[in-house]
Amino acid sequence: CGGGGAGAAGGSQGDGKITMGFSQVGAESGWRTANTKSVQDAAKSAGIELQFSDAQQKQENQLKAIRSFIQQKVDVIAFSPVVETGWDAVLLEAKRAGIPVILTDRAIDSDDTSLYATFLGSDFVEEGRKAGKWLVDNTQGAVNVVELQGTTGAAPAIDRKEGFEEVIAARPDIKVVATQSGDFTRAGGKQVMEAFLKSTPDIDVVYAHNDDMGLGAIEAIKAAGKKPGVDIKIITVDAVKDGMQALANGEINFIVECNPLLGDQLMDLAKKVVAGQEVPKRVVTEETTFTPEQAKAALPERQY
Ligand code: AHR
Repeated sequence: CGGGGAGAAGGSQGDGKITMGFSQVGAESGWRTANTKSVQDAAKSAGIELQFSDAQQKQENQLKAIRSFIQQKVDVIAFSPVVETGWDAVLLEAKRAGIPVILTDRAIDSDDTSLYATFLGSDFVEEGRKAGKWLVDNTQGAVNVVELQGTTGAAPAIDRKEGFEEVIAARPDIKVVATQSGDFTRAGGKQVMEAFLKSTPDIDVVYAHNDDMGLGAIEAIKAAGKKPGVDIKIITVDAVKDGMQALANGEINFIVECNPLLGDQLMDLAKKVVAGQEVPKRVVTEETTFTPEQAKAALPERQY
């Protein structure tokens, strides 16, 4: 068995084919579904044998999956960590077994950067900044914002909050009056927004860390007899089809893109890492933002 690692040719099955163990976060959002499809399609086209495992948003499931990949002696492990902390022990086990690890989409919080070969994914802090900049540029006077956070402890939740707060700090009249996790799901966004509408008077803006929570918030806002996008403005992150449709319809006001199509880049990196070639420690995905007019123009071509 070629256990991977620097210099190994790859091929835990002895046929030269690379085997990748991939531990996915779950199926919590439209973004995640598109990301899973991208990884599976790209593995197929690259001729990489994919062992795919869905963690259902639970770190314990990811730890189990990674340990099972190590036991199976896969050539490379890729995973999208559900939360940032708590990975050192299992990644040390992978390192000792000579199996390189690629972080995709989400980062880990660890001082030991030798535990992974590279990290491929978005700059979530920058995404938060873009959301904040739109708000600063498109509002005047006092603005009450409610924030629907992603999964507690997840890199995109931590970073999108940070980037947004950094930019709105320039406008002390913009206040985040309530903030809570909706776990990146539509149901979570709806439930938290219902509670906000009851507990928090005068909500001007919803900042949702992803489209799905924003779409859930739209349902809650409509049920409360208000007009999403008009009575309450909505900013989200992702730009998946349903979000873009709501943006084109005027129910969302601005979307910051987060690109889920990481599959091809991931397979390229995996081949290089297994072959012992140098790869950059950080690969940042290119992303844009969308206004309603831009969403209308982009929708017909949108892949996900
Ligand atoms: O890690 C990326 C985030 O995870 C997406 O923005 C969100 O929709 C998903 O659940």
